[in-house]
Amino acid sequence: MSETTQYNGKATMEKITSLAKRRGFVFQSSEIYGGQSGAWDYGPLGIELKNRVAGAWWKEMTRLHDNIAGLDAAILMHPRVWEASGHVENFTDPLVDCKKCKSRFRADMIPEENLASKKCPDCGGELTDTRKFNLMFKSHIGPAEDTASVIYLRPETAQGIYVNYKNIIQSNRMKIPFGIAQIGKAFRNEIVTKNFIFRTCEFEQMEMQYFVKPGTDEEWFNEWRKQRWAYYEKLGVKMDHLRWHQHGADELAHYAKDAYDIQYLFPMGWRELEGVHNRADYDLGRHAQFSGKDMQYIDQDNNERYTPYIVETSAGLTRNVLMILCDAYDEELVAADKKSGSSEGTANGTIGSNGAEGSADDWRTVLRFHPDLAPVTAAVLPLMKKDGLAELAQDIRKDLRDDYATDYDQSGAIGRRYRRQDEAGTPFCITVDYQSKEDNTVTLRFRDSMEQIRVPRAEIAARLKQEIKNYKRMQ
Ligand code: GAP
Repeated sequence: MSETTQYNGKATMEKITSLAKRRGFVFQSSEIYGGQSGAWDYGPLGIELKNRVAGAWWKEMTRLHDNIAGLDAAILMHPRVWEASGHVENFTDPLVDCKKCKSRFRADMIPEENLASKKCPDCGGELTDTRKFNLMFKSHIGPAEDTASVIYLRPETAQGIYVNYKNIIQSNRMKIPFGIAQIGKAFRNEIVTKNFIFRTCEFEQMEMQYFVKPGTDEEWFNEWRKQRWAYYEKLGVKMDHLRWHQHGADELAHYAKDAYDIQYLFPMGWRELEGVHNRADYDLGRHAQFSGKDMQYIDQDNNERYTPYIVETSAGLTRNVLMILCDAYDEELVAADKKSGSSEGTANGTIGSNGAEGSADDWRTVLRFHPDLAPVTAAVLPLMKKDGLAELAQDIRKDLRDDYATDYDQSGAIGRRYRRQDEAGTPFCITVDYQSKEDNTVTLRFRDSMEQIRVPRAEIAARLKQEIKNYKRMQ
């Protein structure tokens, strides 16, 4: 693996945050009240992107396996679950406050010398002693606010899988080894929530728990590391922006026997994207102990009983969305002979097949999403609104919308419309011009190369399918 240590992409967190807001990917939560930190809203393009990222993971982790079943467990679970899981006792961050400026820090995220001298890294004021801060959101269920009514928002989706593992064995006749996959919300009262949607209090996870026979866990752990790495390669992510990080003894979560993170090189540096964990029999053992229920697996073929070991792959969905946005972000200088320009086409109202889009050089921002992930697959653009071109374009859109996510845009110069689609990451534009009326062909424009070709209307759907299947990211 070649390893880049310095970020050399075109994205910055400021550019991503601003593009995300401007184009309706992600908005600050409750913005009109000054914003709610740690929470974000996904706009029209954002929800499409998030759904596609989730869909790609779901397909990879369920449909492509014979022995992995899906689940959607409730966010609210019996409070004993979190005692059994160890979260009530261990799911804490070390916290210090500045007595002067009132800033709050994670003690493991400030320089050692500040901690030792108890000096605030921001204002030099005195820091409090370090105290443990539990990350679980706690509330009450029902009208009484007492210890009997305590309820938590789940800090990980995994526990919903463990408490259902026997149900799924019975309902789906699963045999070890097998997996259960789940996508859903998780909540953590994070002390530091900077970097846009990277670390938030409300987020989504995509987790798969693989139940294996003790003694085979290390083999499966390595297998799942391999599979998760290959998944990102398949998504077309820049592979020199990914690396493994093995947890040292001081980093291992309370449940983990071994753990590796897949880290991604974000604009702010290498950060965890996903974890692959060998959780051994910790979770099922603890649930057996706390619930008094038998959590053992009965292997009828070999007449054996045992508590399965669990290999977990745990990825942040919302963090994957940020990764995909950063990974896709590009800016390029468009040479005059490829430029979209501002005119609505050539003199005879036909898009030139040589790809000429204008006259002077300029910059474009483009999101080079894999077409499977792009919020809009194809935008249909009539060169002019008049002379029946808009109606023809709408008709073409209707033909495509059953199979593809489409957009329609008739306002402004064609070059500007191409730029808008580039910025939204739309891989294909279909432009309808006067020639389309005569010979039933359209212009198919490719986002990455800006190349334009003429395609018969009847062949567009098949051509898109083929282009998506053969898509390779431009180097
Ligand atoms: N079940 C194991 C587990 O939850 P984790 O390493 O704490 O492990 C797994 O979290 C993934 O969830 C991380 O790799 C990250 O992608 C995502 N994640 C965790 N905390 C997050 C947060 N506060 N905001 C966004 N994503 C988060």
